[in-house]
Amino acid sequence: MLENNRTKTKDPIYLDNASSSPIDIDVINEMLPFLTGNYGNPSSLHDLGRKSTIAVSNARFRISKLIGSKYNEIYFTSGGTESNNLALIGCARMLNKINPSCKRILISKIEHDSIIETVNFIEKDLKFEIDYLPIKKDGLIDLDTFSEMVSPKTSLISIMLANNEIGTIQPIKALVEIAKAKNENTIFHSDAVQALGKIPINVNDLKIDMMTISSHKINGPKGIGALFIKQGLHIKPIIFGGGQELNLRSGTENVCAIVGFGKACEIWKEKLESVQTEIKRLQRYMIDRIVNEVPGSALNGSMENRISNNVNFSFAGINGEDLLIKLDEYGIEASTGSACSSNKKQKASHVLKALGLSYDQVRGSIRFSIGHQNTQEELKNAIDTLKNLIKEFRKINGVVLRE
Ligand SMILES: Cc1ncc(COP(=O)(O)O)c(C=O)c1O
Repeated sequence: MLENNRTKTKDPIYLDNASSSPIDIDVINEMLPFLTGNYGNPSSLHDLGRKSTIAVSNARFRISKLIGSKYNEIYFTSGGTESNNLALIGCARMLNKINPSCKRILISKIEHDSIIETVNFIEKDLKFEIDYLPIKKDGLIDLDTFSEMVSPKTSLISIMLANNEIGTIQPIKALVEIAKAKNENTIFHSDAVQALGKIPINVNDLKIDMMTISSHKINGPKGIGALFIKQGLHIKPIIFGGGQELNLRSGTENVCAIVGFGKACEIWKEKLESVQTEIKRLQRYMIDRIVNEVPGSALNGSMENRISNNVNFSFAGINGEDLLIKLDEYGIEASTGSACSSNKKQKASHVLKALGLSYDQVRGSIRFSIGHQNTQEELKNAIDTLKNLIKEFRKINGVVLRE
């Protein structure tokens, strides 16, 4: 049994929980037996194998409870990226077979790279046409624009539930209704990696066909995720082998990580409302202080339709990356946007560009993402440091703010 010995004074102030979040101690303790004694392969017919099978089943059940799905609608993958690949490529391959005359996919312009790069592949390899839905200045989708862009030929739509950079929550239920009214066979997928554990999700209420989730954003282990697929929808596999996960995702199950993911979901099911209320209070504290005390700051994305942990600002006359490096020196860990693509791939945020921000505004942006382990004292220290650093940078660079 591990004890939680985190010492707040020594640890950095970690405000990058949307990139990855610390594993809960209860999650680790539930995983430990599967790293030591319970090493059986769930496909094996002996006792240790059966123990693993039961553990995987329990986890599947816990995950289904958090999203309101059936137990057998959860398929384990290696994470959000793989789930998005499986959802889109698997569906495109299925559509190619059953309806080759309808080969149009619609995604929003602010999707995660694991959606954008996947539709690029589908466009080239499977010869689908891709439509990119613009978004409004506040990071939300306009229902009329969406309605105009969905054609009866649109056979697959993928719109994220909450955005990873600006935290905006899209009106998925309304979008599904509009899409299905145009073509009841249109398949609707949503990337809910950043929404899971932040807002209540019920796949039946949303009426979506597929949904992507990932463990490490909700205080579970990395390298494990799942795809919800509505019963009766038979997408094609993209990984072939031993036929695990009902023949859709071959490969020996990562039992220990699956157990951790299940436990993390169970914890969030119990405490979602109370913890998110507290995180929202911290978010409000941080946003109010920055707006009031840092001149030349602008919040990116809607305040109202926003997950509780996200704080994304552009600071006039500031290079976000320089600021990030300096903050890190002071023990404050944040991000310039999506940290889920490799470090080598430094490019201007396509999300902020889609909001209509100028080059300087995009360059001057920073994302803080709050976790349940953060305290108001930590945020206070982070904001005080941020204020001083911005002042210093502007002084060094001779930046004068216009009223
Ligand atoms: C919205 C969104 N989708 C997908 C992913 C990829 O998830 P994973 O890191 O589990 O591959 C991320 C990671 O940040 C994300 O934020």
